[in-house]
Amino acid sequence: MATANQPGTTYRATFERASDDPAAFWLEQAQTLDWHTAPTRGLDYDGAASWKWFPDGQLNITYQALDRWVQAGRGDQPALVWDSAMTDQQVTYTYAELLDKVARFAGALRANGVTRGDRVLIYMPMIPEALIAMLAVARIGAIHVVTFGGFAPREVATRLDDAQAKAVIAANGGIEPSRTIRYLPNVAEAIELAEHKPEVVLVKQRPEIDDTIADFDTTWLDFDEQLADNGPVEALPVAATDPLYLLHTSGTTSKPKAVIRDHGGYAVAAAWSVPNIYNVHPGEVMFVASDVGWVVGHTYIVYAPLVSGATTVVYEGKPVGTPDAGAFWRVASEHGAKMIFSAPTAYRAIRAADPTGEHWQRYDMSALETVFSAGERLDEDTYHWLEKVTGKPVVDHWWQTETGWPIVANLRGLDPMPLKPGSPSVPVPGYRVSVVNPLGEPVATGSEGNIVVELPLPPGAMVGLYGEPERFHSSYMAAFPGYYETGDTGYIDEDGYVFVLGRSDDVINVAGHRLSTGTLEAVIAEHPAVAETAVIGVADELKGQKPVAYVVLTADADLSAEQLAKELVAKVRHDFGPVAAFQNVDVVSALPKTRSGKILRRTMRSIVEGDEVATPATIDDPGVLDSFAQQATRWDS
Ligand code: COA
Ligand code: AMP
Repeated sequence: MATANQPGTTYRATFERASDDPAAFWLEQAQTLDWHTAPTRGLDYDGAASWKWFPDGQLNITYQALDRWVQAGRGDQPALVWDSAMTDQQVTYTYAELLDKVARFAGALRANGVTRGDRVLIYMPMIPEALIAMLAVARIGAIHVVTFGGFAPREVATRLDDAQAKAVIAANGGIEPSRTIRYLPNVAEAIELAEHKPEVVLVKQRPEIDDTIADFDTTWLDFDEQLADNGPVEALPVAATDPLYLLHTSGTTSKPKAVIRDHGGYAVAAAWSVPNIYNVHPGEVMFVASDVGWVVGHTYIVYAPLVSGATTVVYEGKPVGTPDAGAFWRVASEHGAKMIFSAPTAYRAIRAADPTGEHWQRYDMSALETVFSAGERLDEDTYHWLEKVTGKPVVDHWWQTETGWPIVANLRGLDPMPLKPGSPSVPVPGYRVSVVNPLGEPVATGSEGNIVVELPLPPGAMVGLYGEPERFHSSYMAAFPGYYETGDTGYIDEDGYVFVLGRSDDVINVAGHRLSTGTLEAVIAEHPAVAETAVIGVADELKGQKPVAYVVLTADADLSAEQLAKELVAKVRHDFGPVAAFQNVDVVSALPKTRSGKILRRTMRSIVEGDEVATPATIDDPGVLDSFAQQATRWDS
């Protein structure tokens, strides 16, 4: 019999309240914010695939993130600490300073014709100006579209066209350990490639990077001059349901999906999750080692810490090599972080460089309470290593670009429960998670199936795909009516713990970055020597998975396999971006397919990873499978 003190009791009661009456539960949580017009209704839901959180509320998320903390007397508290291992600098912005910069840059955007509802593409590295740009766009009710710096011009162009962006905000460059990335030629090329041309480009010229504004057709303005020359503007109250940002993510086709996030639901989810999941409270410090280009960065580097009155650490550097494998521990220690959060691949990189955790011993880590992980499954080896080296609770949690915040977690602030290696723990209140078979029927406890979430999704999760309502429905709601299909498979054990095993679609996860094999295939298939190709994700010890391309040559192809690999690697870097970490090409005589012509990627993966493979019943030609098995390289992980 559970008592009030047993772990899980508070969690279960909260989970049930959020499940039984989501509208009432979230309306109650919304009271913690300072609304311009407080909502009277929690939720409008049509019973199918459309829902609106706080439909009659009005606010601006940047008012929640900045103004209200200054008004509450936190103006002198650090809001943002920038720690650049790449340039050896640390800069702190208090809430008052950050508000001033954001309000002025919002003024600059407005002076340049950007208004409510306009889309603004942001292409910047991990510098404070990236956050200032995002918050300034949101402050005037415009919509930001952040594009990760590791994407090539063609991917930037796709997003420019998709969002029909009115303006671009960029930096002149980013600094990677191996080289300086000049962003301006990429922006110029992207604008040339895009059909839709932005009206203006605002450029943060980093003094460390010797690259000035390019001579180009579009109007280019200097970020700092614009900031200095324009007066501050107030946060524009918008409908809680107004879009705050679009964030593109990989789907199964080559065209990325633009997830839409709103102002109101996102602000409420952000404000709820920081104390309840991360156990962080106003005045405490969060160190989330990701990038503003990803969802983790949007939510837990930018919006959630600030909406919660915490301090966010913005780190420009790597887990290893900048200068050593103690970089994360140094940053956490120097800034007094209460939590650290990164991807398993980063922790594996630290482990490979410092297996005994010597660097951890060099720092005072007493302020750090918890080590969080997400982005891919936290393998048990890495979990145990982290636990041993840090002596802190190591908390895996599972989520997606689509959901914007964790679906499954161990709620460290609400009711910490026992941790089980291999599981991100239990469904977060608001997410009614189940596991179903292909017919949509619940599977038995402990049996693997598709992980689904009952609709409607909670506040903070996506509310649509930009310009593609049909795709929103067909991608996520059509397979299991009444449920959101996560695309992940897994099982739930007898204690209600969820285990996430992998994707059921053609999405792969390379170093915590979600990539579409379809996009890579489209780039590779353009090479004149390639008749056909399939890209699959193969296990990799450091990055989790690495993309490998299996290529069938055209009859008249006249180049060696080595030359082809060299050209394809260069092409993927140029057309998609270095972030794909694409290095492996294998030439085969044919690709195994079903009778309806679908490439058997899962079977191919099993073969190259050396698993037992039964010939699929749907196979077109078993001989092709045999020859593939003989020809394909077994990649070392
Ligand atoms: N701008 C431009 N290029 C970038 C970039 C950026 N913001 N980020 C990465 N790249 C480039 C890198 O320079 C590298 O190029 P190279 O092939 O010329 O060396 C390539 O993209 C691959 O980068 P990365 O995946 O970072 O690999 P790495 O070998 O340099 O580092 C890790 C390996 C594990 C240290 C790194 O992947 C890492 O820190 N991952 C954490 C991922 C993460 O935070 N994910 C977010 C989810 S929580
Ligand atoms: P992204 O949308 O880029 O955040 O990627 C989301 C995908 O990453 C999920 O659908 C999972 O496949 C994977 N993922 C993220 N976090 C975890 C985790 N904690 N455990 C297992 N897989 C994860």
